[in-house]
Amino acid sequence: MLKIEALSLDVSNGSGDVSILKNINLELESGKFYAITGPNGGGKTSLAKVIMGIYKNTSGKIYLDDTDITDFDITQRARAGISYAFQNPPRFKGLKVKDLLKISAGEKEENVGSVYSRLRAVGLCPQDYLDRECDNSLSGGEMKRIELATVLSRPSKVIIYDEPEAGVDLWSFEKLLNLINKYHSRGGVITIVITHHEKVLSLADEIILIADGEVKEKGSRDKMLNILQDDFRCRWQQDCGGDENELKCY
Ligand SMILES: Nc1ncnc2c1ncn2[C@@H]1O[C@H](COP(=O)(O)OP(=O)(O)OP(=O)(O)O)[C@@H](O)[C@H]1O
Ligand SMILES: [Mg+2]
Repeated sequence: MLKIEALSLDVSNGSGDVSILKNINLELESGKFYAITGPNGGGKTSLAKVIMGIYKNTSGKIYLDDTDITDFDITQRARAGISYAFQNPPRFKGLKVKDLLKISAGEKEENVGSVYSRLRAVGLCPQDYLDRECDNSLSGGEMKRIELATVLSRPSKVIIYDEPEAGVDLWSFEKLLNLINKYHSRGGVITIVITHHEKVLSLADEIILIADGEVKEKGSRDKMLNILQDDFRCRWQQDCGGDENELKCY
C-alpha cells in the first residue's frame, strides 16, 4: 500500500511562497489501477514528483508498505520500487537509447535481445533507434515511447505514468495503453495514470480528482465518471458563463 498522509508542498516562485499541494490524504492499494485527473495546473504532476522524491514535501508523510519513505531520496525510492514516467521525459545528451534501456533495466552487460524486444513492444524499430542519442533530436512521442520501455523493463511496486497520451499519436496510444494494462495485470503493482483521456479513465478501478492542489473527489470509476461530467458542466458555465453546447463551436 502507498499511503499519503496530510501532505503539502509549498514552493517559492520569486514573489513569495505558493501552496501547490494542500493536505493530500490517499491510501492506494496494491493491485489497483488508479487514474488521477483534473484541470491544468491542479497539482497532479507535483504530487507525482513528490511521490518520486523529485520534489520534497513541505509537510506530511509517505509510507510504502508500512515503511516511512518521506526522507528517502529519488534513488532510494526507485530501489524501494517506485517508478515515474515523466509528462515531459528528460533528455540525456550523449546517452544512446540502448544504454538508457540497459541502465534502466539494471543490466551490467548489454542484452541485445531484451533491448530489441522492449523497443519493439513500444512500436519502435530497434535498428532505427538503438544508436540514436536521447537528446532533442528525438520527437516528443518517440521519447515518451522510449521512456515507457524503460519503466516497463524493471520490477515496480508503484508506477506513475504522467499523461502517457501526451504527444503520442491516436493509432499508437491504444497499443501503449494495452502495454500499461498488461504490466498491471501481472499483479501486485499500484498503477497510477495521470490523464485527461476518457479511455484511460474507463480502465481505472478508482479515479481521483485533483484541482487547486487538493483532492476534490475520489471513488469508484462509475461514481467518478458521473461526478466528472457534472463538474465539467459546472466549470464551463462558471468560467465562460455559457453552456456546454457552446463546445460545438470549437
Ligand atoms: N517548481 C515550481 N515552481 C513554481 N510553481 C510550480 C512549480 N511546479 C509546479 N508549479 C505550479 O504548481 C501548479 C501545479 O502544477 P502541476 O504541474 O502539478 O499541474 P498539473 O495538474 O500536472 O497540470 P497539467 O494538467 O497542465 O499537467 C501550477 O500552477 C504550476 O505552475
Ligand atoms: Mg502535469
